[in-house]
Amino acid sequence: MNQPVMEGLRLNVPAYVKNQRLVAWVAEIAALTEARDVYWCDGSQAEYDRLCQQLVDAGTFKKLNPALRPGSYLACSDPSDVARVEDRTFICTKDKADAGPTNNWMNPAEMRALLQTGDKALFKGAMRGRTLYVVPFSMGPIGSPIAHIGVELSDSPYVAVNMRIMTRMGRAVLDVLGDDGEFVPCVHTVGAPLAAGQADVKWPCNSTKYIVHYPETREIWSYGSGYGGNALLGKKCFALRIASTMGRDQGWLAEHMLVLGVTSPEGKKHHVAAAFPSACGKTNFAMLIPPAGFEGWKVTTIGDDIAWIKPGKDGRLYAINPEAGYFGVAPGTNAQTNPNCMASLNKDVIFTNVALTDDGDVWWEGMTDTPPAHLIDWQGKDWTPAIAKETGAKAAHPNARFTVAATNNPALDVDWDNPAGVAIDAFIFGGRRSTTVPLVTEARDWVEGVYMAATMGSETTAAAAGQQGVVRRDPFAMLPFMGYNMADYFQHWLALGAKLQGAGATLPKIFCVNWFRKGADGKFVWPGYGENMRVLKWMLERVEGQGQGVEHAFGTSPRYEDLNWQGLAFTPEQYKTVTHISNEDWATELKLHDELFIQLAHNLPAELPATKAKIEGRLASQA
Ligand code: OXD
Ligand code: MN
Repeated sequence: MNQPVMEGLRLNVPAYVKNQRLVAWVAEIAALTEARDVYWCDGSQAEYDRLCQQLVDAGTFKKLNPALRPGSYLACSDPSDVARVEDRTFICTKDKADAGPTNNWMNPAEMRALLQTGDKALFKGAMRGRTLYVVPFSMGPIGSPIAHIGVELSDSPYVAVNMRIMTRMGRAVLDVLGDDGEFVPCVHTVGAPLAAGQADVKWPCNSTKYIVHYPETREIWSYGSGYGGNALLGKKCFALRIASTMGRDQGWLAEHMLVLGVTSPEGKKHHVAAAFPSACGKTNFAMLIPPAGFEGWKVTTIGDDIAWIKPGKDGRLYAINPEAGYFGVAPGTNAQTNPNCMASLNKDVIFTNVALTDDGDVWWEGMTDTPPAHLIDWQGKDWTPAIAKETGAKAAHPNARFTVAATNNPALDVDWDNPAGVAIDAFIFGGRRSTTVPLVTEARDWVEGVYMAATMGSETTAAAAGQQGVVRRDPFAMLPFMGYNMADYFQHWLALGAKLQGAGATLPKIFCVNWFRKGADGKFVWPGYGENMRVLKWMLERVEGQGQGVEHAFGTSPRYEDLNWQGLAFTPEQYKTVTHISNEDWATELKLHDELFIQLAHNLPAELPATKAKIEGRLASQA
């Protein structure tokens, strides 16, 4: 292939790159951003090692003690760049109604002027003094009919190495792309151009941030942040926001869901997809180890964050995990809460914003009962238990993360990489609620399940910048990740269910759970983690038409005696605390459902207010 040479810039196009549209686009973005040079990632181990060393030399990475944590690194970000920035995330559609009232919207032409074309466009010269990395990636197994290709152009080597773990990345993707394959263009800059001779900082970023999606042209433009979902564009931006619009147009679902397999002692296997908001335990649930009393049961991980779900020819819904790694929350993870995760983190990990121990390993709040006597915290300061007591300083940022390959997980499911996906038997939706919502409820039908998912509320966490612990509606755990109008998305779920049922298919059952109810002392009552297996088993019994339960205003829930309590001391009184339905609390809760429906009134499917009316009727007759 000839190598187009722009003024002062060689594109360095490798001979194996055949896609002229890709080459022309790289040339265009390199010219716009005035990148110093261009590097095409091949995805090899040698390249990964070289880029990691470059990050060590630049001070961004610290290599961890190879005797304790082989092949692993710690990055600490700028203190201003630690989480997804939802208020700076935009869906740019021609018609504002297509983005819907839950998204920040700007007209595409206006946004393009701001980012690309205007006199002071942010991307103009944004990569000056930096290398532009061309990162080709596949969401889903390379070459699978359900996978989709993206190419991220980023001036962050941290992004390049994280993308190698989180996606199938490199030359093999370009081989599949061929000379005329389709790809989603993703442009990312940290927004920190370097003048000639200017020294770089360890974590370049900009206080101005824009995370921008153009669903109509399937493009992503991200400016100013180097962190997580703001910068690793295959994850939230592509696999959820852009993919949800692709799913709407093509009849499938892109969901914020873990996917797991459960095998019974008799060898019967089920698959479950579960949606929980960010930092509410998806990774823990996906890697669950069954507790005492569940000998012979096995849970295996297909994915921990995102599912792409498509109807199969048999009318069942098949899910794949489009990712290849886990970008999980570290604080709170330990050998009791998630032993499989801790084992996954033994080697070849990139940690971000955790604390450094004196012997060159990592630590975070909740990793051990007794913290080390001395640490360097995520901001590079000395940290001791005494300092923490006095100042409240956290050793690790509450949204500190690990990036690790799925293949490190000892509980990885045999089908995690199967291009055909796995058939889903049940959907679970769960928020973080200290009150009101019972431990588990089964929806009586698909519409009632969609209602439960649509009206789900959750207390906010550190995964997003902003106030924490406030209850907000987070429909389907997709509030920050919807690429189009939320009311149209509800309709898409209803229509898909009706279509499959109309064709004679048995739909997955839908359940709503809440692991987070608190007692009068403010402490969690339900032990959670591995003990969630008790609830999972009941759900699978219901799938099999066997488990017992009682119907109430919202659906069907198990009585105390319907769950297996072998191996756990949990009293009927405690059970009552986590399952009690208070008419007063629900009167308040239903007002919040009303507020959501008023917000989403445009195109809101009539089935949802109708389901609410039925719930109100049942509550009134119970009172
Ligand atoms: C994530 C998130 O990083 O949901 O998965 O914030
Ligand atoms: Mn997530």
